[in-house]
Amino acid sequence: MATVKLTNVKKIYGKNTVAVHDFNLEIADKEFIVFVGPSGCGKSTTLRMIAGLEEITEGTIEIGGKVVNDLQPKDRDIAMVFQNYALYPHLTVFENMAFALRLKRVPVTDEKGNTRYVKLTQDEIYKRVTEAADILGISEYLLRRPRELSGGQRQRVAIGRAMVRDSQVFLMDEPLSNLDAKLRNQMRAELILLREKIDSTFIYVTHDQTEAMTLGDRIVIMKDGFIQQVGTPTEVFEMPGNLFVAEFIGAPKMNTFNARLIKDDGGYTVEVCGVKMPVDGEKGEELAKRQIPSSAIVLGVRPEHITLTGRANPAALPCVIRVTEMMGSELHLHVTAPQGEQLIVRIPTVSLTSAQVAALTAGAKIFVTFRGKVMHFFSQDTGINLLTDAQAGQQVPQITQNQQEKDEMPVKNWHLKN
Ligand SMILES: Nc1ncnc2c1ncn2[C@@H]1O[C@H](COP(=O)(O)OP(=O)(O)OP(=O)(O)O)[C@@H](O)[C@H]1O
Ligand SMILES: [Mg+2]
Repeated sequence: MATVKLTNVKKIYGKNTVAVHDFNLEIADKEFIVFVGPSGCGKSTTLRMIAGLEEITEGTIEIGGKVVNDLQPKDRDIAMVFQNYALYPHLTVFENMAFALRLKRVPVTDEKGNTRYVKLTQDEIYKRVTEAADILGISEYLLRRPRELSGGQRQRVAIGRAMVRDSQVFLMDEPLSNLDAKLRNQMRAELILLREKIDSTFIYVTHDQTEAMTLGDRIVIMKDGFIQQVGTPTEVFEMPGNLFVAEFIGAPKMNTFNARLIKDDGGYTVEVCGVKMPVDGEKGEELAKRQIPSSAIVLGVRPEHITLTGRANPAALPCVIRVTEMMGSELHLHVTAPQGEQLIVRIPTVSLTSAQVAALTAGAKIFVTFRGKVMHFFSQDTGINLLTDAQAGQQVPQITQNQQEKDEMPVKNWHLKN
């Protein structure tokens, strides 16, 4: 059993650098949790506190139900892979992986009940290293030195070095960030497979939302030392708790507009960029159920949820293309809406003729629209999603006054109240 539980964990560096505020999270046995957020949000600090490499200022950390606040890293039964994994250059792959095992002592109790600590046998070390190498596909490189390996192979050795320790909790801090984009994709897929073969709880740190979405059973999105939301990839994508999460998850990021939500007898409409659009389907029902009144809101729509339409559509927004980015299977159109709003529209090219693709260039006038089901509604005052409440899997985001001022959100009056 290796649950990990953090209760009111706080980290203050020096006198007043608060790196992590009141962090609360329960991680289930064998769960794959990803901490994601922009640089400096406290991901590594939190991971290092779990590892015991950083003292915690307040709170408790439990691993497998046992408080580990005062335990040395070596006594916490964790393995860690860092961003700069620093293999020993003069040792072979085998010896790099075997290094920690040669230092390891395991308790052996004799029939009289006396416990001694003994080294692992050569056979045991050989077995563990070759098994890990086999899983990672690096068996044929065991006698090479790190300089004779590619970046991806070295990365695998670093993971193997942690794997052989057979720990209950596997901590990884940006393990793929040294690799080029292609290798990173490949290693990401391998990590998903690897995870099936290792019987551990994983806590993985990254600032890359794609990595977070593809690897995590649940994702913890952080900003300025505060948890913004905890949820499955689907939950955070479909129901982002606040504007920060909405814009952080998904690429290109979600479009946001100052808009007006209007409630009348026939249901809800939004007035955005001077055009009224009905909020049809589930989203309209959900607004009604919560009796959300007419109000000024921030409307969010993902670029891939906007479609091209004809002028005849009464809910069509007339736009002018500023820039067209050809991404191969899709176009990213950067367009200007009637009242100067800037938005990005993602259009798959598969159903367009070459002539239609060619016509979507800078200066072209187009009409776009979107359905109610892809709309997200946020409070202009707090940035909080009007259709979420602080319930299981969600935490109310808290941002201090100071941090509000630092905020550079696209919507001017967006801020989160403490
Ligand atoms: N040893 C330290 N002394 C003082 N401040 C520190 C120390 N280590 C980290 N910090 C500060 O704590 C905050 C969180 O740092 P942390 O390294 O946890 O961020 P991160 O989310 O891992 O960022 P990155 O994505 O850049 O690695 C930052 O503001 C950082 O400057
Ligand atoms: Mg970090």
